[in-house]
Amino acid sequence: MAWVNGVYVAADEARISPFDRGFLFADGVYEVTAVYGGRLVDMGRHLDRLERSLRELKFGTLPDRKELEEVHRRLVADNGIDEGYVYLQVTRGAYAGRDFVAPEKPRLTCFAFGEARALIDTPAARNGSRIVTLPDIRWARRDIKSTGLLAQALAKTEAKRQGADDAWLVAPDGFVTEGASSNAWIVTQDGEIITRQLSSMILAGVTRHALFDALGQRGRRVTERAFTAEEAKKAAEAFTTAATGLVTPVVEIDGVKLGEGKPGKATRELQKLYYTAIGVDVAKAAPWANED
Ligand code: PDD
Repeated sequence: MAWVNGVYVAADEARISPFDRGFLFADGVYEVTAVYGGRLVDMGRHLDRLERSLRELKFGTLPDRKELEEVHRRLVADNGIDEGYVYLQVTRGAYAGRDFVAPEKPRLTCFAFGEARALIDTPAARNGSRIVTLPDIRWARRDIKSTGLLAQALAKTEAKRQGADDAWLVAPDGFVTEGASSNAWIVTQDGEIITRQLSSMILAGVTRHALFDALGQRGRRVTERAFTAEEAKKAAEAFTTAATGLVTPVVEIDGVKLGEGKPGKATRELQKLYYTAIGVDVAKAAPWANED
């Protein structure tokens, strides 16, 4: 079941106009909220970021927040999702013809659906993912969660073509910005945890934020600074964070194995820390995280 402009419909009957600015101009934003144990993970922060994205794009109108919360809950309940995600997209709407100039008072198109999917016991979470680095050819406002995802889609496709699992994007100055759909982290040989500082160069990940919080409660610090692809290849460990990937170990970058080429100790601890924070019973749902 999906939700389109206030109406719940069977997913394969969901329709929007080809004149929608989301289709013609990628004039829209989106959020992906994880669901675990039938509960939405950090929905409040996802909706905060959605509103921020819409404000930055000068939409002038925001969707009704209470309604969006209710839609999320209902999509989880009615689709019987225990583990999975809810996708939400808001565009500047459909109008006659094709005008680059955006309407002052848009009639928003809102679309959401939910899907059951394993988040915890996945091959990438267990065994880690192999990354290739690729040039970051995206637009300059990566802090906005835009549906203009062609550069990311091409990067992930190229990574698969090269036999890897995912891509990290590298700016012309040699510094890693982030993953194609995740934030990028490294752990140095001295155990320092590093991720890029927030700016318009990266998306302010909700999972990134939650991991900062969980680490802070343990009195552990994260260093926020940029690192190069070369530094990442010399790191002891690396991992990514994202709503659907949660904390995913990285075991190889451009064919260079990190450590022993399997998920590192620090990364496993961070995985468990995050799992616990969202209510996962690690011993039951992710026993492999205790085995290395
Ligand atoms: N992507 N950076 C980029 C470019 C992303 O696309 C994402 C998430 C993140 C992590 O943000 P968060 O922790 O809030 O999910 C960082 C989603 C999951 C997607 O496009 O499917």
